[in-house]
Amino acid sequence: LLNEIKVNLRVNNMVKPLAIDSRMSLLDALRERLALTGTKKGCDHGQCGACTVIIDGKRKLSCLTLAATCEGKEITTVEGLAKNGEMHDMQKAFVKHDGFQCGYCTPGQICSSVALLEEAKNGEASYVTEDLKNIKSGLKLSEEEIRERMSGNICRCGAYNNIVQAFKEVHSGDDVMPT
Ligand code: FES
Ligand code: FES
Repeated sequence: LLNEIKVNLRVNNMVKPLAIDSRMSLLDALRERLALTGTKKGCDHGQCGACTVIIDGKRKLSCLTLAATCEGKEITTVEGLAKNGEMHDMQKAFVKHDGFQCGYCTPGQICSSVALLEEAKNGEASYVTEDLKNIKSGLKLSEEEIRERMSGNICRCGAYNNIVQAFKEVHSGDDVMPT
């Protein structure tokens, strides 16, 4: 390789040493070098959210992240969300509420949703003004706020309503009936 560098990627709690082109995106490193094809390539330039992964607890677009910048960071892909053979609550909720049709956007939607739960817990700044007060007083995100915060994840099949229902169920901790 012309610009080969060595990088240790910590993905789903395993460290993988790789020799890669310094210009390789994290998305390509995951899919083509680590065979973690759960993370999807939609647009490859930051517009669709299909490639969303979680890096050090924050959701990131792996197509816009250079793999070389990820040394020492904790990367979680959709493959790393299940524990001990059991799906993550968000994965279960997507199944229960039919939060997908073709499924192409789903790994990104789920990674984004899991990281959004943390954003909400940490009271991170909201987009919808009224929600700011709610979040600060430990209340749940409004539907408007959820939709705004998930707007970076495009679903060509239009499964948005069910995605929101899935998120709400896990976010509220209540067993909301499927709609
Ligand atoms: Fe990364 Fe579309 S593939 S945002
Ligand atoms: Fe098909 Fe979202 S389920 S793009």
